[in-house]
Amino acid sequence: MIEIQNLNFTYPDGRKALDGIHLRIQAGERVGLIGPNGAGKSTFLYHLNGVLSGEGEIIINNLVLDKRNIPAIRAMVGLVFQNPDDQLFSSSVYEDVAYGPLYKGLSKNEVNEHVSHALELVGMSEYIHRNSYHLSVGEKKRIAIATVLSMNPEILVLDEPTAGLDPRGRREIIGLLLNLPQTLIVATHDLDLVEKLLNRVLIISSGQIVVDGEAKTILKNKDLLEKHGLF
Ligand SMILES: Nc1ncnc2c1ncn2[C@@H]1O[C@H](COP(=O)(O)OP(=O)(O)O)[C@@H](O)[C@H]1O
Ligand SMILES: [Mg+2]
Repeated sequence: MIEIQNLNFTYPDGRKALDGIHLRIQAGERVGLIGPNGAGKSTFLYHLNGVLSGEGEIIINNLVLDKRNIPAIRAMVGLVFQNPDDQLFSSSVYEDVAYGPLYKGLSKNEVNEHVSHALELVGMSEYIHRNSYHLSVGEKKRIAIATVLSMNPEILVLDEPTAGLDPRGRREIIGLLLNLPQTLIVATHDLDLVEKLLNRVLIISSGQIVVDGEAKTILKNKDLLEKHGLF
């Protein structure tokens, strides 16, 4: 479903953030991207729907990710930013969640159906007329996920979905993600989330994937986790 060949990316200031990433992900996998701050997790995720574009090749559902295919790829890959304020910009929850479906040109009725369904999936139906700006961080995170789910993506990419949340907020996010059918790619430091939600883990260090294995096995390897600043 996702195939990445020799992906490299250097920021304009000369900082090399991705250094030769090779990766294949099958439909239905739930993959964690873990590694210390600055390892390149966010930079990598931003490549999956063309927010950033480095050297190398990314193929998603047989489509090469290039300028021409970006709209088609964005319809398949939903990216949820770490900071929900980067995702929510309308004056109401309804408008934020309706933005994608409206942009796609769906009818008013279809848009409303997509919005209701997405809000149901994140347990936020009763917030439809609230102002996103006034919500708690946990609520904003759930609305940010809904803005992407309203587009029915096949692949959901989340950058640190539980960072900065209290225990209940974390449980709610993990619970709602567990109920989704999408292929998941999640950057996180939250080993509890890894254990409950993910099947496969990639450890990323200095822009390279240094470990790729079964989540259960990697979680048991405390030395490995400690070596990468995760324990
Ligand atoms: N806009 C930017 N300009 C220059 N360097 C950046 C920028 N964003 C991130 N970096 C650098 O790229 C590396 C990877 O960052 P990032 O992908 O944010 O890591 P992570 O998400 O794993 O914490 C870090 O060294 C970081 O300082
Ligand atoms: Mg990051």
